Formats: sequence, C-alpha cells, structure tokens
Amino acid sequence: MKIGSASAVLAAAGAVFEKEKMPMPTTVTAFDNLNAVKEGKYALPALPYDYSALEPFYSEQTLRLHHDKHHAAYVNGFNTALEKLQAARKEGNFLDIKSLSKACAFHGSGHVLHTLFWHSMKPGGHSGMPDDLAMALNNSFDSVDAAKAQFAAAAKDVEASGWGVLAYEPLAGKLLILQAEKHQDLAIWGVLPLLVCDVWEHAYYLQYQNRRADWVDAFMKLANWEFAAQRLSMINHNFSGQWKLNNSNDAPRPPSGLKKRS
Ligand SMILES: [Fe+2]
Repeated sequence: MKIGSASAVLAAAGAVFEKEKMPMPTTVTAFDNLNAVKEGKYALPALPYDYSALEPFYSEQTLRLHHDKHHAAYVNGFNTALEKLQAARKEGNFLDIKSLSKACAFHGSGHVLHTLFWHSMKPGGHSGMPDDLAMALNNSFDSVDAAKAQFAAAAKDVEASGWGVLAYEPLAGKLLILQAEKHQDLAIWGVLPLLVCDVWEHAYYLQYQNRRADWVDAFMKLANWEFAAQRLSMINHNFSGQWKLNNSNDAPRPPSGLKKRS
C-alpha cells in the first residue's frame, strides 16, 4: 500500500482490528479508525483536544480553519469520488476513470493524513520519547536526536506542498523519514505512517506566513511521540515473522519463502 493511499491505509488499520482476537495493549488506540469513518462513510473526526489547546505554537484560528474547512473538504471530496465511482460501476461507464481515480487518491490521502496529523501533535508539547520508539529511532537513524533533525529538515524542505512523514517500512522492519509531495504522489507502497507534519500552506500560512521552517520548529515542540510509539507498538504487535520491527543492525531480511542470493 502507499502512504498516500487513504483506502489502503484505512483498510490496513481495519484489517489489523479485524484480526483482533489477539490481546492488545489496553492503552493503544492509535490503530482504530480514529473516528474518521462513521456508518460506512468517511467522516470528519473531532479534534482530540480543544481548538486553543496547541497555543501558542498553533493558533486557534489556524487550527479551526485547517480542521473545519480544509480537512472537511477532503472528507467530502473523498466520499463524492467514491459515490461517483459507484455510479460509474453501475452504469458500466468508466469514461471519467482517470479524474475519479485522481480525486479518490487526492481527497482520500488528505483525509487519512489529516486524521493522523491531529494526533501527531499534543497539547503541552514534548512528553518525552517512549522507550520502544527511542530504540527504533536509534536503530533506524543512529540516534533520537538525528531522527528528529532529519524529520524537521525533511518537512522544511518538501518541494511545494506536502508532508513530513515518519513511517514504518515492513520489508526491512525499519523506520523511514519521507517527504510526501502533494500527498498523492511520491509515496512508498507498503509503509505505514507513524507521525506526520503538514506543510501545505493552508496548515501554517495564517500564523507563520511564508516562514515554513518556523512552523516546523513549532510542530517539533508539539510532536506527539507517544502516538507514534503506540502506532509502532500496534504494528509490532500485529505483524509477525519478517514483518516485525527489526531492531537489529542486520541487513534487511528476505521475505520468508525466498532464498537469499549467494
Ligand atoms: Fe492540511
């Protein structure tokens, strides 16, 4: 799956839950649907905090506009695209398949990433780095500080609009930091996002104007590492074998059933 692919990410989250019979850590909610789906349709989730809770790093006015207008537009666009695709299937008329597929990816990715983004920040800022995530960051990026520095640099330097993304890549069982340009492009299939920073202009222009770096520095003060750790814990808990988090410095393992080339 692609990180920018809403249906794929939500399907993965759902699939994880449907497996459910296994005991899950009781405090982890990071892989439920985060209230982004209601009664079979995608829905605008309520923020997990008050509109003013991220002040002064993220203003109430910016957050209201971002959540109530921009995120809501992605939700509506996603549902509309899916309805039109349903009608196209019914009529057997796929003349608009290109634009509808694009609309699906664009609005769907926007919905998934914004849903994660609200949880990627925490009122009051840093709450320390959970041990398991610290170990994973150390193993994937040499140190926690280096990971934070790479994340901030990647977010600041996304070309045009997009996202900074901390993600889990299951082939090697390692973490990656990515730039998701325009959020429907340049993603990597298979990764699962853990923490995302929105650097579309609508995310920060009201408060930071063209100072994207100042916005990213503010985001880093709000970064919710506990949420990232919970998502990582759920991935680690639900994947087995070669899909588990690789906390060794070994070379990536080949998928089971495949022999290493000699
Ligand atoms: Fe946004």
